[in-house]
Amino acid sequence: MTGRGQVRFEDIVKMHGEFSALKGVSFDIEPGEFFALLGPSGSGKSTTLRILAGLDAPTSGRVFIDGRDITATDARDRDIAMVFQSYALYPHMSVYENIAFPLEMAKLPVAEIDVAVKDAARKVKIEHLLDRKPGQLSGGQQQRCALARAIVRKARLFLLDEPLSNLDAKLRMETRAELKKLQRSLGVTAVYVTHDQEEAMTLADRMAVFMAGEIQQVGRPAEIFAKPNSIDVAAFIGSPPMNLLAALFADGDVLIAGHRLKTALQAAGERDVVVGIRPGALRIAPDGLKARVELIEDLGDTKVLDLDCAGTAMRIRVGDESVPPEGAVISITARAQDIHLFDPTTRRRL
Ligand SMILES: Nc1ncnc2c1ncn2[C@@H]1O[C@H](COP(=O)(O)OP(=O)(O)OP(=O)(O)O)[C@@H](O)[C@H]1O
Ligand SMILES: [Mg+2]
Repeated sequence: MTGRGQVRFEDIVKMHGEFSALKGVSFDIEPGEFFALLGPSGSGKSTTLRILAGLDAPTSGRVFIDGRDITATDARDRDIAMVFQSYALYPHMSVYENIAFPLEMAKLPVAEIDVAVKDAARKVKIEHLLDRKPGQLSGGQQQRCALARAIVRKARLFLLDEPLSNLDAKLRMETRAELKKLQRSLGVTAVYVTHDQEEAMTLADRMAVFMAGEIQQVGRPAEIFAKPNSIDVAAFIGSPPMNLLAALFADGDVLIAGHRLKTALQAAGERDVVVGIRPGALRIAPDGLKARVELIEDLGDTKVLDLDCAGTAMRIRVGDESVPPEGAVISITARAQDIHLFDPTTRRRL
């Protein structure tokens, strides 16, 4: 390995004609970190990854790897391994030959290639499949073959663009866990693109949340979940999504459907706010906000109730023990520290 895998994006802008795909993106990734680029479709995640890989040039701004400005450096000279959504395996080559390919290109001795290929295949548990062609593998096995091909290069940076999107739910979770263990054991820096917030939450040490070509927030998943800094981040992170409703803030309380809820914000006076409360943070309790149960969604271990709260739709997540029937009128509340407040105009956290 030639470096440590530290990344810096400095005010990167990417224009396509008049359209700005990236509007000044800056972030830092520490060596060995698992860093996710999370955001909805079209928000600029792949563009960011391609610029880091050297497959696209930014319109302005600078990219550094291990302190060196590599903005103008050729993709081949960046010491980066990339796994795309489509695995791009060579169909006419065996799994062995696919994994060996980058090393053969680098003209390594045959014996050395053999050791590296078998070692990588063992790490991703496909050593028994080395003689097969990609067409004879399952999606997950192809995925792991693509990973092995990235591993053999011993690059300082691993870039992955929605690498699990073709897998079914079960395999996706298994491969996700393997990927994380693998990244840790290799000690390599990983930059991982996904639009799946759950995937980013479970995999990433830190993540950047993209919206419309801008980073809205960077932080540890738990931090962003606990303190989203905008309405858009709040709505994007967490499942089922956070309840967001217009309300009046008055002297530390919020007024929702005529009911007062205490918040953690100590401020005098009145103003319009957007209130955010996660479905899991709502509690069924006496003397709360009255709401009618419209629908019960059974998720197995928990249930999600769709509520009508004086014309406003809300969701609450409850355990098995306390499920009122559909049509019941219940009373709900939330602790002050679980109430998020946002400015309706700037959409920022208050
Ligand atoms: N060559 C291009 N010409 C014009 N617009 C482009 C081009 N490439 C990308 N874009 C636009 O730039 C924006 C960002 O694209 P990008 O591929 O980075 O999105 P993404 O966040 O990876 O989305 P997805 O989750 O759908 O893959 C999109 O609106 C896209 O349409
Ligand atoms: Mg993309």
